[in-house]
Amino acid sequence: MSSEITSLDQPLDVMFLIHKALRAEAVRTEKAVSDLEDGSSLQPFKLAFNSWATALLYHAEAEMGTDMAGPEVPADGESNLAARVKSALLAQEEAEHLELVEKVQEVLTVLDEDIGATSVITRTKQHLFRQVVALRITQEDHLESEEALILPMVRQRLTEEQQLKVARALLIDDQADDPRWIVEWVTRDLSSGEQNLLADLEVRLNGSAPSNG
Ligand SMILES: [Fe+2]
Repeated sequence: MSSEITSLDQPLDVMFLIHKALRAEAVRTEKAVSDLEDGSSLQPFKLAFNSWATALLYHAEAEMGTDMAGPEVPADGESNLAARVKSALLAQEEAEHLELVEKVQEVLTVLDEDIGATSVITRTKQHLFRQVVALRITQEDHLESEEALILPMVRQRLTEEQQLKVARALLIDDQADDPRWIVEWVTRDLSSGEQNLLADLEVRLNGSAPSNG
């Protein structure tokens, strides 16, 4: 799934770049658990997991906070059935987001309760490994269903301008000290060609900044 993304046909296709970075984080975190040995420091794992979980939770929250769903009323020419399918898909998306939050919480619980101390024993490592794999699989299922089911629907429903707004919410964190942290984070896992696509899009986002921000 780490194939090169060579164009962003529509602004919301930036999702593929973000998902690529999320997948890379999952691989790094799983590797960080595998590398744990009896008595070794948990710090490298904690750093990897923290980076992944922070980005994942921001992403899930940003998606629910945007009008990715489009208007609530059926769009022109949209049948009742199509509107129902849409709301069922969005309900599924929300359920998947909640599941991701739960899985993140489960890893944190292992870190807090099972370990407490700073060094690793085999049982802890196995416990941690199980939860991290569960989170990675939940994430993969979610990214796949979003790419296959949600994105095509959203691309069709939102105008270019609306898509830029959503893309901005996904990439710029107005609440953070450094609002560009997501852009920087995504960039790390992109090829130079993909970095150019992201940079070009970022320039266009400035036109869709919220007027009060
Ligand atoms: Fe997404």
